[in-house]
Amino acid sequence: MPPLDFRPRWRGYARAMARGSEPQGKGPARASLPTARPKAGRGCECPRCSDADRAASPSTPAPQNHAPVCNNECRSFGRSKIQQVHPLYLSHILLFSADVDAASAFYTDFLGLRLSDKSGSVIAFLHSPHGSDHHLIAFAKSSGPGLHHSAWCVPSIDAVGLGTQQMIEAGYDRGWGIGRHVLGSNYFRYVQDPWGSYAEYSYDIDFVDPRAPWPAADHPDEDSLYVWGPEVPTDFVTNHELRIA
Ligand SMILES: [Fe+2]
Repeated sequence: MPPLDFRPRWRGYARAMARGSEPQGKGPARASLPTARPKAGRGCECPRCSDADRAASPSTPAPQNHAPVCNNECRSFGRSKIQQVHPLYLSHILLFSADVDAASAFYTDFLGLRLSDKSGSVIAFLHSPHGSDHHLIAFAKSSGPGLHHSAWCVPSIDAVGLGTQQMIEAGYDRGWGIGRHVLGSNYFRYVQDPWGSYAEYSYDIDFVDPRAPWPAADHPDEDSLYVWGPEVPTDFVTNHELRIA
């Protein structure tokens, strides 16, 4: 088997735009998953973990510290226990805009949102000053308005994978992912809806703490979209609503 290549596949947003963005002529519900397992060895409550495991394990929990009989209890869950994935909350929306800078200025100057990150005048991400996900709302360059996607937080990378599988089984196999974004850091799977926009399963997005101002930055094109994942679909940044207008 050839060695795995972990070099990031840089595919910038603007580059994708250039490939065909414009049409030629487009309490919160809990995920019904098994109870989330602890994220660190310190939190593992399974009876096979010793106190030393919980205190010392740098991962979650360290596999070598678990007898094989323990694996099904605390490292994965049975296929028979899988239930429908439902999102925890709406994380953000990404809107198309003919003027990303003007849209950002309106929401920051008049509504009080703050810039999280941007890439030139092509894409900008805004968060709430009271604390929010890395972006509540974002704008991407197009020749007119439109909805690119809504993003829905799920509780684990398993939920992203299960949601992907369940949507494919339901007939919604068009989309992009699983992958990981650079700006926001979240793992993603985009499911294309019947109208050409996307619903995103999102897990582990950065959170902007209001007590620690976020150092907004202007990032190069190659850092604007994703670190790893499948090739970007050719119509991923197509504004399908322009076809309707
Ligand atoms: Fe998103």
